Amino acid sequence: MQRLLTGLQPSGALHIGNYFGALKPFAEMYAEYESYLMVVDYHALTSLRNGDELRGNIKNVVRDYLAVGVDPAKAIIFQQSQVQEHTEFAWVLECLVTVSFLELGHAYKDKVAKGIEATAGLFNYPMLMAADILLYDTDVVPVGEDQRQHLEYAREAAAKFNKAYGETLKEPKELIQKSVAVVPGTDGKKMSKSYGNTIPLFGTKDEISKAVMSIVTDSGGDKPEHVFAIHKLLKTETELAPLYEDNQGKYKALKDALIEDLDALIAPMREKRSAITDAEVKKVLDEGSAKAREKAASKMREVRQKVGVAL
Ligand code: ADP
Ligand code: TRP
Repeated sequence: MQRLLTGLQPSGALHIGNYFGALKPFAEMYAEYESYLMVVDYHALTSLRNGDELRGNIKNVVRDYLAVGVDPAKAIIFQQSQVQEHTEFAWVLECLVTVSFLELGHAYKDKVAKGIEATAGLFNYPMLMAADILLYDTDVVPVGEDQRQHLEYAREAAAKFNKAYGETLKEPKELIQKSVAVVPGTDGKKMSKSYGNTIPLFGTKDEISKAVMSIVTDSGGDKPEHVFAIHKLLKTETELAPLYEDNQGKYKALKDALIEDLDALIAPMREKRSAITDAEVKKVLDEGSAKAREKAASKMREVRQKVGVAL
């Protein structure tokens, strides 16, 4: 079985774009691999400086994945900070790559261009991510297109280590879901929490209604295109054809139908999510982290031996 690993930033409430673009495809494929699902809480320190908020986000991200059906018996769900080998190994990798190489990082450059403080943590972010991946001899890493370069960084770090110390680390491959369309937000742009145009994934029916009613429909024509684009994620075009033919130009009726269809998808997940207790989340993370630690510790023993700190 191939090994799959991915990392989730504990960075706040999810929207239906995240669901169709990331959670649903993940939930459909993870069981075919030996899967590791890691909450990258130390990466979140590059953007978050509020302990209570981070604590809450870590628990929420686990709850979200359990609610969409990821089974902790079929995946190792764990917390990055509970496996200290990640930060330890990142240091070793940082001693192999150059500053000028890291300066080419798109994510780093974009964030600094937006005025975000250029901390050393933000700069070294790709090497902590490389450590996350390389510690587990990972074969595939499902990520969004924006993470492609980070996988190149991980491969480069692995190659440098292997060149210096002999074959030790496996070069991972990214798994980028091409088939998933970009889900439009209520204003027709890409749905994103940073644009404030989202339909919340675990929202109440009222919150869903409010978001759907705000979908922009001023493009003219019989079919409100942004409403239809979201509707198509829930039903086939053939299933939707009679509804849209019978209600040409009736935007309110079409939005009402979309609200019902969205709620039919979301209600069971919302209920499942609300039944998950803090204690359950903690148990999943503690058990997963113990398993991850075993793997990571064994790799780190080999690394310490190779670099020469193990006497
Ligand atoms: P946001 O843009 O809201 O900050 P993130 O960048 O945190 O979302 O994305 C988390 C995951 O959800 C990524 O895998 C990303 O590809 C996916 N995703 C985010 N927005 C959309 C969208 N509008 N359509 C499809 N997938 C999306
Ligand atoms: N950088 C990734 C993101 O922003 C999160 C991440 C950290 C990650 N470590 C990882 C993803 C390891 C995959 C594998 O989405």
